[in-house]
Amino acid sequence: MRLDKFICKSTELTRTEAKKLLKKGEVRVNGEVIKNPAFQVHANNDITLDGQSLIARESRYIMLNKPMDFICSNVDEVYPSVLHLLEIDKAFDLHIAGRLDADTTGLILITDDGRWSHNIISPKKDCAKTYRVWLRDDINSEQQQTLIEQFQQGIQLHGEKQLTKPALLNIIGPDQVLLTITEGKYHQVKRMFAAVGNKVVGLHREQIGKIKLDKSLSLGQWRFLTQTEVESFALT
Ligand code: URA
Repeated sequence: MRLDKFICKSTELTRTEAKKLLKKGEVRVNGEVIKNPAFQVHANNDITLDGQSLIARESRYIMLNKPMDFICSNVDEVYPSVLHLLEIDKAFDLHIAGRLDADTTGLILITDDGRWSHNIISPKKDCAKTYRVWLRDDINSEQQQTLIEQFQQGIQLHGEKQLTKPALLNIIGPDQVLLTITEGKYHQVKRMFAAVGNKVVGLHREQIGKIKLDKSLSLGQWRFLTQTEVESFALT
């Protein structure tokens, strides 16, 4: 991890304050003064500030049931960031592992462990995400099998060179399906249904990898992940 990030994780200092201390030469790594905020440090390094050893806080891992009209960004735009919903110390030091649109609800994972979130975000990891989708047009029984096969074989999205990766479509009712995809292209689920002539009118994420949205969390509520949930990504 970067040295300035390590200082934030082990003190109450902000990134700017940490950088100022580094510039002043007050931080040593294994006895040597280091001024570069991007210097990479590891758990076994001896890092001192003003002669005091620093110990980084444990990483944080959170699931949140995202309500509508919040955005998955660390900066507020037209809508506020979901990080406002956490009401914990240094919430804005965390980042969101896999975004949802402002009008999408459901499971988001939030952490300060970039290596962990890489398992979710990296296109190479093929992390499965399951969405409950409400559609404008009913899917009749004759269309069902064709649609399942189309999603399985890949959909040609407008403006994309390659077909979407195989997706699993599970028909729940005439206008409701569960869709599992392993990619995270911009507006992917909405664009997949647009490509087959339908329209998504409601979208809710229920699962990421093996982590299921806790049914006891109402929209806007959150909890820390269990050890097993955290490790479900560390081990994949
Ligand atoms: N696909 C979308 O179209 N929107 C989301 O928020 C997530 C997946």
